[in-house]
Amino acid sequence: MAMRIFNKSISDEEYLYQQLDPAKLPTHVAIIMDGNGRWAGKRKLPRVAGHREGAESVRTIVETAARLGIQHLTLFAFSTENWKRPKIEVRALMDLLMEFIRQEIATLKKNNIRFQMLGRSEGLHISVLEQIRKAELSTFQNTGLQLNIAINYSGRAEILDACRELAREVAEGRLQAADINDEVIANKLYTRAMPDPDLLIRTSGEMRVSNFLLWQIAYAEIYVTEKLWPDFRTAEFYQALLAYQKRDRRFGGISLLQDATAPR
Ligand code: IPE
Ligand code: IPE
Ligand code: MG
Repeated sequence: MAMRIFNKSISDEEYLYQQLDPAKLPTHVAIIMDGNGRWAGKRKLPRVAGHREGAESVRTIVETAARLGIQHLTLFAFSTENWKRPKIEVRALMDLLMEFIRQEIATLKKNNIRFQMLGRSEGLHISVLEQIRKAELSTFQNTGLQLNIAINYSGRAEILDACRELAREVAEGRLQAADINDEVIANKLYTRAMPDPDLLIRTSGEMRVSNFLLWQIAYAEIYVTEKLWPDFRTAEFYQALLAYQKRDRRFGGISLLQDATAPR
């Protein structure tokens, strides 16, 4: 029985993979990894068990994204608002993050993955920061998948910091207010030098962006799945990518998919 289920899930995954158009993959995928607590609750387990299982999903999705040749993957791991949670959960999340990064450095290097943190370093424990900087330093020359993990991240704080920096430059006469444009602002964000996300995935069915990449998702395609993050694995990722490939991205223009001979 187990074998049959196993075979079935493998073939489902392969079937989905075959539907994917490798030429139409998103360049940048961002994910709000949500639902770890509910996953644990459904099993009468402590919330941290959900976070632990969620870390397995992270491993799987990073591996799948790298294998597919996706260039940027940005994962929301801890928001500035998550400090409101009970101390014991925050501590467990930080420990898990550190442990995850420590364990993954060798794999990241082997797979040519470049790791980067997005978020405010102030407020993070020095041991967490050290682990992050170590992973960043030892992978910064890698040229494959760029893995961004948003930790102590807030989209508004990111924009606020950019505004302060620009205001300072104007006050010091290094920049003219009239010269501030989209590109100038984008270059002050943590994501400078990265393309905007093409696809934003949120697990666990919540229809909100929860302060994630507010500037960058202006034209991202949004995909919400009921699957809880610990249950979001390769097959679910393929489903999200397939849904993305069916979207008609117009960027405010008109459809390129429409009949070219039809009157406009
Ligand atoms: C996502 O799962 C992980 C983090 C936000 C750190 P949650 O912990 O938010 O799980 P739910 O939403 O309570 O189920
Ligand atoms: C968003 O999830 C933050 C992360 C995934 C790290 P939350 O669970 O914190 O978001 P809300 O509270 O449901 O908006
Ligand atoms: Mg949540």
